[in-house]
Amino acid sequence: MITLKTPRQLAAMREAGRLAGQALQLAGSAVKPGVTTGEIDAIVYEFITKHGAKPSFLHYNGYPASACVSINNEVIHGIPGTRRILEGDIVSIDIGTILNGYQGDNAATFAAGDAGEDALSLMSATQQSLMEGIKAARAGGRLGDIGFAVQSYVESEGYSVVRQYVGHGIGEEMHEPPDVPNYGQRGRGTRLAAGMTIAIEPMVNAGSAGVRVLSDGWTVVTLDGSLSAHFEHTVAITDNGPVILTLP
Ligand code: MF3
Ligand code: CO
Repeated sequence: MITLKTPRQLAAMREAGRLAGQALQLAGSAVKPGVTTGEIDAIVYEFITKHGAKPSFLHYNGYPASACVSINNEVIHGIPGTRRILEGDIVSIDIGTILNGYQGDNAATFAAGDAGEDALSLMSATQQSLMEGIKAARAGGRLGDIGFAVQSYVESEGYSVVRQYVGHGIGEEMHEPPDVPNYGQRGRGTRLAAGMTIAIEPMVNAGSAGVRVLSDGWTVVTLDGSLSAHFEHTVAITDNGPVILTLP
């Protein structure tokens, strides 16, 4: 069941979201050649716990870290560790927080040094596809409007959207109904209503859409080895239009 949040609950989600946004900004500023993914994770853990919140990913279904750090052909759910970021890598960081019982979830892809034109255009198209999806998250519209907006933008740029993983409702739980696919048809699916809170999170591959999970059980990589980018915001649907809850 989709729960509609009250203004009070939305205010609490904005605080959780703000912290997630600040943690993501901090993590992104730490992305540099020579830094390990585990160091990024430690920065995120420190920041979130110092502010009286919990990193929502830590121990979620056995996940061992506070952030997901996914490099180049890794799409999502990269486990932080001893791997060093190299000059020219693109690094997708995903961070969730729980503050006062409410969740915030966001992600972005950052370049380490000079990643080159192809990587930068993939990143900016993915970020823009998220903005297109957010613009389509309007009360009275349909869930399919969001997926359609994301997919049509991504494909117009010559990239492909991952199908096996999707965005989600969010609130007191990180994953609530409904699923929020990054593909779909305009005018189809669940009616969008004021008070819904959803995480929209396009995962965009430079090559084909296929992905697989590595033997660590978590890391999702592109099947064809192509680069992938990931941007995510937690968004509230309101009578005054979509409101991004994860701005820092
Ligand atoms: N932001 C992701 C999601 O929306 C990451 C959660 S995976 C976890 O599902 F296991 F690390 F928590
Ligand atoms: Co998410």
